[in-house]
Amino acid sequence: MKPLTTTRELYDRYVIPTYGRFDLRLARGQGTEVWDEAGKRYLDFGAGIAVTSIGHCHPRVVATMQQQIATLVHTSNLYYTRPQGELAERLVRLVGKPGKVFFCNSGAEANEALYKLARKFGNESAPPPPKHTVGEWVTTATPRFEIITMLGSFHGRTLAGIAATGQEKVKKGFEPAVAGFCHVPFNDGEALAAAVREPGTVAVLLEPVQGESGIKPSDATFLRLARQLCDEHGLLLMFDEVQCGLGRTGDWVGAKTLAPDVMPDAMSWAKGIAGGFPLGAIWVSDRAVTLADGSAKPLCDLLGPGTHGTTFGGTPLVCAGASEVLAVIEDEGLLANARDLGAYAKQTLDALASPLIKETRGVGLMIGIELVPDFAERVPACPVAKAPCLFVVDRLHEAGLLTIPSGTHAVRWLPPLNVKRSEIDEAASILKNVLTSLA
Ligand SMILES: Cc1ncc(COP(=O)(O)O)c(C=O)c1O
Repeated sequence: MKPLTTTRELYDRYVIPTYGRFDLRLARGQGTEVWDEAGKRYLDFGAGIAVTSIGHCHPRVVATMQQQIATLVHTSNLYYTRPQGELAERLVRLVGKPGKVFFCNSGAEANEALYKLARKFGNESAPPPPKHTVGEWVTTATPRFEIITMLGSFHGRTLAGIAATGQEKVKKGFEPAVAGFCHVPFNDGEALAAAVREPGTVAVLLEPVQGESGIKPSDATFLRLARQLCDEHGLLLMFDEVQCGLGRTGDWVGAKTLAPDVMPDAMSWAKGIAGGFPLGAIWVSDRAVTLADGSAKPLCDLLGPGTHGTTFGGTPLVCAGASEVLAVIEDEGLLANARDLGAYAKQTLDALASPLIKETRGVGLMIGIELVPDFAERVPACPVAKAPCLFVVDRLHEAGLLTIPSGTHAVRWLPPLNVKRSEIDEAASILKNVLTSLA
């Protein structure tokens, strides 16, 4: 057999083709720049889909992880390790409200922990359910397990994640759906209020800024109503902050940028938390829950020993790295940078006044550039079968800028939180040249 030589050939032959990948073979990165195998430089405004939150290979993170990798990488969660405890303490401090943290490996897994928290809450805080026997198993199923999520949301690719996600395209071919999720239109308070069923509903889950559907922020009034409904009906309010959390919007809690007075009962993180190493987590408030027998317990202690777990979640290596990433964000004032340069980026994009851009939407350094609906008619070079955002992202690659497509018409800018003004100017100039050449 002829030996395979190129990276592309290796993928084509050996990697399960779940992704429609762009034909870029990236080899190394530094700060906001990456280089491909041929040595071509790109400005990285995708940051690995909002993951490399302080850029590639930040010297402080490199040094910390090099030291930790030579000290202790993994022990399992059967034991205590200092880096996990210290990271949990830091995260609770950054949230600014008492609670506890559970560590896992990804955003979808963090959301799984939220679904399980909600079901446990539904089981234990509800009146004692009737017991009935199924085969030799005694079940204590209660009717209180439905989680309301939003249309247009994205919560991950596990079976429960696609059931929670409010987009048909991720569910197709994987039926039957995991039970216990229903969707309402995003930012529609009346629909949310109408969807709450007693005693079936147990929680509301939402992304304060919808990321995968093109950067769509929640209205402050919608967040407040969601909090109010949850309080009135005894439900958990849960935020999926996998994409918008930990600084990207300019606040540690993304929702606070939109409605500073609204806090959830629990929220999930992943993506930028460890600057590129796989880590997911949930934070759960310590608010008291009245149990079926009348006693009370903090919500953050409901998932007790044996109820949930993971072999890898929260290794000393990844936790040491994540603590350093978060320390860099604090020490270098990157929340303020996300706010200031996010506003500057939006203003710069608006000033392009391109006839091919319908609008730009932004919260901190989550920026969505929505192309005009009739883009394909205006740009004959755009193949009819191709989503316009993919076409534009391809052209931006050729011009040396990495960005992230969303849906059919949105292009996302998700640069690292330490992006510089000059880099925003360069990215805007590349986008301007590409759109001008197309128009
Ligand atoms: C809001 C949100 N939740 C969950 C996920 C899933 O995260 P992961 O891909 O790490 O499983 C994503 C990924 O894009 C996301 O944007």
